[in-house]
Amino acid sequence: MKAIHLSTAGIDGLKICDISRPQPGYGEVLIRQHAVSLNYLDLALATGKFGAVSQPVIPGADSAGEIFGAVSQPVIPGADSAGEIVESGEGVEGWQIGERVVPGMMSHWHAGAIRSEHHQTLRGVTTNGGLAEYAVVPAKSLVRIPDFLNWQQAATLPIAATTAWNAIVRGKIQPGSTVLLLGTGGVSLFALQYAKAAGARVIIISSSDEKLDRVKALGADDGINYHEVPEWDQRVLKLTEGHGADLVLESVGGSTFAKSINAAAHNGTIFVIGFVGGAEVSMPVLPVMQKKLNIVGNNTGSTSDLRAAVRAIETSTIYPVIDRIFTFADTRKAYRYLEAAGHIGKVVISLDA
Ligand SMILES: NC(=O)c1ccc[n+]([C@@H]2O[C@H](COP(=O)([O-])OP(=O)(O)OC[C@H]3O[C@@H](n4cnc5c(N)ncnc54)[C@H](OP(=O)(O)O)[C@@H]3O)[C@@H](O)[C@H]2O)c1
Repeated sequence: MKAIHLSTAGIDGLKICDISRPQPGYGEVLIRQHAVSLNYLDLALATGKFGAVSQPVIPGADSAGEIFGAVSQPVIPGADSAGEIVESGEGVEGWQIGERVVPGMMSHWHAGAIRSEHHQTLRGVTTNGGLAEYAVVPAKSLVRIPDFLNWQQAATLPIAATTAWNAIVRGKIQPGSTVLLLGTGGVSLFALQYAKAAGARVIIISSSDEKLDRVKALGADDGINYHEVPEWDQRVLKLTEGHGADLVLESVGGSTFAKSINAAAHNGTIFVIGFVGGAEVSMPVLPVMQKKLNIVGNNTGSTSDLRAAVRAIETSTIYPVIDRIFTFADTRKAYRYLEAAGHIGKVVISLDA
């Protein structure tokens, strides 16, 4: 089968190769993959920002066998994919051949609280991921794709939609709430659509007026260009008559964290997910206490969280925002496009083209 291998650090380390098709074991299914969506995580892994490159394991093996933390590069990258079941292993119940599915990224975190062992099987990080014609995944990590979504749209769901959904739930967003989104990337665009479906007001900051116009057309209430208005936290307070944002989706990290705290409402939630602006944070503690802020970390989510996120997509008829679709042969171009950060929403690779 056709696959992408990441053998050395750097986008040029992504190479197309031909390897044997994997076989499903007990409790596993073989899926024919049709599309992959890229996440900042995939870029960080490929460029060595998420850990050092280790030796690739035997091609075709279903796990890189390394512990997350002493991160290895996966043989086959791509944390998010969509496909159809073509073969079932022993002990698989409740799934039919031909069903359209997305696998959760944290393959063995099915439901409930996260535990340390859940970090050991991350698709495209510690185990083989989406950039191959076929993949073996645990049946318990699967969620059905709503009929109205095509392969490319469905491939955007596992990481970005789950994370955005968890933020909306944890932030207790309801009609009248204010949500602040940092940037116009994949997670922000899902959060925008979920927040609007929940009746909230959405403020987005971005590097670009053109992107702000596009997200306003998609329902954002207010946009702030963070280059033109570096004190965007004060602008958020002004726009909300001093109230602040009930939920801040902190997808940037070091360069924004202190301002996110300033922009938050009393009893608000800072949902900490990202590090595109640095993984180390310096922040004032007094407003955290004075405003009784909830600072909540998130690690994507369980299969159960993905199922809830997909259910909300279905009931609210949310169409994922895809900026551009690349062919499999242009995988490196897709990574470089994400790296340039000119996109809004998701960047997708079609495995059928
Ligand atoms: N922990 C979790 O559960 C989890 C899950 C998913 C993602 N994440 C993380 O969340 C982050 C975002 O992921 P993504 O997939 O949405 O990324 P993405 O699609 O690559 O979007 C990143 C966006 O961040 C914005 N940005 C960059 N610097 C900024 C700054 N200083 N202030 C405001 N915005 C800034 C840019 O938007 P503009 O061009 O509009 O400025 C950029 O397009 C990443 O760090 C990713 O690893 C974490």
